[in-house]
Amino acid sequence: MHIIKLNATNSTNEYLKQLIVSSNLDDFTVVVTENQLQGRGQMGTHWLSEPGKNLTFSVLKKGEGLEVADQFLLNMCVSLALYEALQQLNIPNLAVKWPNDILSANSKICGILIENILIGSKIQSSIIGIGLNVNQLSFNNLPNVSSLKLLKGETFNLDEVLNIIIQKLKKYVTKDFLENPDALRALYQEIMFRVNKPSTFKNNEGALFMGFIKGVSSSGKLIVLLEDNIFKEYNLKEIQLLY
Ligand code: BTN
Repeated sequence: MHIIKLNATNSTNEYLKQLIVSSNLDDFTVVVTENQLQGRGQMGTHWLSEPGKNLTFSVLKKGEGLEVADQFLLNMCVSLALYEALQQLNIPNLAVKWPNDILSANSKICGILIENILIGSKIQSSIIGIGLNVNQLSFNNLPNVSSLKLLKGETFNLDEVLNIIIQKLKKYVTKDFLENPDALRALYQEIMFRVNKPSTFKNNEGALFMGFIKGVSSSGKLIVLLEDNIFKEYNLKEIQLLY
């Protein structure tokens, strides 16, 4: 496995993307930095991380013939890998908040940003960006954010945590899983935050409503059971899970 360690870079996702274009990299090549200056988050947000404290890294997965319409399958593989890695580290009360935040005891400890390089409608390469709060102790009073150290009271070795995650990515981000969407969805559903529990959502007009998370559709939409036994599917831009 090839690990490229950088003292500082704007975004490991961006760095890996440039490398993919200019060189022939092995599958699961990793770019990790101690100091990510302009980390990117979901939906155009920023990912902030105190230098030297956390893991901010990107992993190359070469395409397995996946259509871009099926890209959520990859998110599920990555979520399962992270969940199992964190379980191995004895992090309590883990859950995956759809679409791809990893929570411990209702607080976010890890975010995932997957960016794809396409050829036509097929994914040629995926850049799996992961930000994991490891040893950072303060998050500027951001609500519901935590780190492994805050949860466990101990300092973690960043290289060791990274290695465990890479091993789990190699286990889950495979052709076998990607070609078995039903099995993948069943596994993902088991680890989903608030699955089958009464939950409150906000729609994109700001209205609150109640429902039960039932799982994800084949295209990665959230399946919610609403009043009157109606099932509805929502994409990321249409809904926010509040609690
Ligand atoms: C999110 O929860 O909004 C996703 C955060 C993803 C952050 C990681 S850190 C490493 C990689 N490089 C980036 O610029 N972003 C991802």
